[in-house]
Amino acid sequence: MSSTNPIIKCTMAALAVLLGTACEGKPTPTRPVGQAAAPVASSNACQPISELNALDPRRPVPLQPMMAWHQKQNMQQHLGAIQQIIDGLARQDWEEIVRASARIESSPQMQQMCEHMGAGADGFTELALDFHRRADAIGEAAQARDAQAVLRATSNTLQACTSCHAAYRQDVVDAETWRARTGQTHDPAMGHGGH
Ligand code: HEC
Repeated sequence: MSSTNPIIKCTMAALAVLLGTACEGKPTPTRPVGQAAAPVASSNACQPISELNALDPRRPVPLQPMMAWHQKQNMQQHLGAIQQIIDGLARQDWEEIVRASARIESSPQMQQMCEHMGAGADGFTELALDFHRRADAIGEAAQARDAQAVLRATSNTLQACTSCHAAYRQDVVDAETWRARTGQTHDPAMGHGGH
């Protein structure tokens, strides 16, 4: 997937940081509900974010706000699918497990989305695709009505969730920064029927 020279990529990423990504120079208007437009100290507005980023050693995945929100929704659905799988397993409802695992199995659409989400973070897409492939085994085990195999495949899938969470975090950036860090040119209107 890395068609661009990694050194150029790194330089571009470093430049994007230097040029002031996300927060720098753009005060985020955080106004508590019900409070009149109180002036926000713009020089401090991003300090908590930089502090968090300094604490969080995971590799950043650059995403535009809509992509980041879309990813979070996907993630909540992934967790929902796992919950539904466990529920099906507890009741030996194999159909339920097949339906639930279909929500996280690999597909061409899934692949396209993962490539898009991981465009600015080396290795992310590979982990994502590996995750979906692991999930394929859950449905197969349910078709075979093999509870132990469903459990094994679910555990194996959850391992992919946890290793990705240990390695990557979202880095919400504006369109210009996203394009600079991914080398992509089009505007990602994710969540509107794909692209
Ligand atoms: C390829 C990477 C990857 C895989 C695989 C993955 N996640 Fe995530 N997940 C992320 C990233 C990145 C975030 C955002 C973390 C952050 O906030 O910076 C996230 C966030 C989440 C969140 C928080 C959502 C929110 O509303 O903030 C949940 C829940 C979650 N993941 C569940 C799962 C589950 C369950 C699985 C597996 C079934 C899974 N994820 C697999 C990368 C991944």
